[in-house]
Amino acid sequence: MNKLVASNIYKTYESGGHSTNVLSNISIEISEGDTIGVIGSSGSGKTTLLQILAGLELADQGNIHFNDINLSSNNAKNFNLMRSKLFGYAYQFHYLLDDLTVYENCNLVFKIAGNKSDEKNSKKIIQILDELGISELQNNYPYMLSGGERQRVAIARAVVHEPKFILMDEPTGNLDQENAEIIQDLTIKLAKNRNIGIVVATHDLNYAGKLDAVFRIENGDLKSA
Ligand SMILES: Nc1ncnc2c1ncn2[C@@H]1O[C@H](COP(=O)(O)OP(=O)(O)OP(=O)(O)O)[C@@H](O)[C@H]1O
Ligand SMILES: [Mg+2]
Repeated sequence: MNKLVASNIYKTYESGGHSTNVLSNISIEISEGDTIGVIGSSGSGKTTLLQILAGLELADQGNIHFNDINLSSNNAKNFNLMRSKLFGYAYQFHYLLDDLTVYENCNLVFKIAGNKSDEKNSKKIIQILDELGISELQNNYPYMLSGGERQRVAIARAVVHEPKFILMDEPTGNLDQENAEIIQDLTIKLAKNRNIGIVVATHDLNYAGKLDAVFRIENGDLKSA
């Protein structure tokens, strides 16, 4: 069974001559198919933790292992390709490209990875858009979408290359209750159907209540919630 293990992670930010200890000796383990919630007040370090798990941000200390591979070892550069295959990331402010359609936003993942657009990728895109109930929007531009639909595209983009783990930063952050519930249920179904481990940073306790395990970040510490 695939596992992502972060151990003894420390992260401090320095700005304006003042340092903030965001994460102090945090450890967490995520297995394939697991749905894990990370809660905590604004500024507690949820985004920081997700970015460190995905390798988008470097920890000051500590290790991230995928199975027995240490993704934070000295030759970390060699792992960039592996990381891009292993992880999908749905950003807090979804960052869809305005000039690209829904389909093209998803296809960008393959283009960046150097894959030519081929039939196989096209099938994967249509399939995930279908799973998320937005295939009829594939030729629309982001400005034509509702907030909930945009969030679904951001999730499609995080999943389309079939990663083992997805990090989702407040996927229901700006949605009404009805759309939040749709996203909650779709993301949990995705994890279970595709056996993907998901880590969700959220302020939404209703969402957290549906996940397999929930942790709270408080004063740099991560505790079971
Ligand atoms: N690049 C940076 N430089 C300096 N400080 C930073 C940086 N990124 C984050 N911080 C600080 O680190 C702390 C944690 O930020 P983070 O974005 O992880 O919080 P969060 O839990 O995701 O908050 P929210 O719920 O508002 O999204 C905050 O105090 C923030 O100001
Ligand atoms: Mg955040």
